[in-house]
Amino acid sequence: MAGSAMALVRTPEQHPAHAELLAGLLSVPKTLPSKYLYDEEGSRLFELICDQPEYYVARTEISLLASIAAEVAHALRDRSVLVEFGSGASVKTRLLLDALPLLSAYVPIDISQSALSAAALAIRGDYPRLNVMPVLGDFTRHLTLPTTIDGRSIAGFFPGSTIGNFSPSAAVDFLARVRRLFGQGSKLVVGADLAKTPRVLVPAYNDAEGVTAAFNKNLLTRLNREFGANFDLGSFDHVASWNAAESRIEMHLVSLVRQRVTLLHRWLDFAAGETIHTENSYKYSPVAFARMAAQAGWSVERRWISDNPEFAIFALSAD
Ligand code: SAH
Ligand code: AVI
Repeated sequence: MAGSAMALVRTPEQHPAHAELLAGLLSVPKTLPSKYLYDEEGSRLFELICDQPEYYVARTEISLLASIAAEVAHALRDRSVLVEFGSGASVKTRLLLDALPLLSAYVPIDISQSALSAAALAIRGDYPRLNVMPVLGDFTRHLTLPTTIDGRSIAGFFPGSTIGNFSPSAAVDFLARVRRLFGQGSKLVVGADLAKTPRVLVPAYNDAEGVTAAFNKNLLTRLNREFGANFDLGSFDHVASWNAAESRIEMHLVSLVRQRVTLLHRWLDFAAGETIHTENSYKYSPVAFARMAAQAGWSVERRWISDNPEFAIFALSAD
């Protein structure tokens, strides 16, 4: 084959996304990692969810953060770099950037290229003195930072209750990896939704406009487009339910009929009523969250909780 490029065929096991998707869809019950919800359309739909009256999560965190920005800034006072995990549209970030005028660099990390590049452009335009260094990647796999920030004091930011999309053990693992990456003396601000009545929780994940349903079903559109699947969107429905024993909202896609679907040259058989579990949103108590942080080497330096509906922001410190 000298002089010509050799075509390499990757088996599913060699392609991390293929292996992950097949492992989930061939398991019982069927699951998919929620990070696949965020292609360009998924990121657009997530921003629309944030505007739905039932989805109290985003607006509650924004108004809490706006009211405590000066106190959060005090906890992060001597930091020069802000590193954000799952930055999306970087909306909440602006509240911190405005309160921390001495920050010289911002590192948004996200898996969604469209959201990340649009947000980086917008932040660059509005904060011209800030060095914006976006990192496109999956923070469940690699946690790497630009080498240009080596040796500089870092503040971490993980808003949105995205930590609730991890299982508790994966959340501890993630927090421990961030602790190792940032080092001793570092700070991390985390937003986490708190457990509350399912009368508030369930509609937040099943809004009347059907935006969350479209967000969930977009996963099937993505599998059809990017992974050669042939899901019939009309024969799956969005379901959101409260699992009290696990303290989490679960999103599923339920098959309305018995059917066979193809994905990556494999057959997937669905019984009528069988679901694909597409997302968990764990809802913690402040004590349970602090226990998890402690297991990962962080202590809660400060904590702020909104009035009903309750949402918490924690300033963690790695001593
Ligand atoms: N922080 C924003 C967005 C929250 S939505 C806010 O609070 O409004 C969750 C974000 O995390 C999305 O932008 C999604 O693309 C990103 N995300 C989800 N899983 C990820 C992963 N494994 N690695 C990197 N980013 C991820
Ligand atoms: C990003 N994440 C914290 C959202 C949540 O509430 O779990 C994603 C979402 N899923 C459905 N609605 C919003």
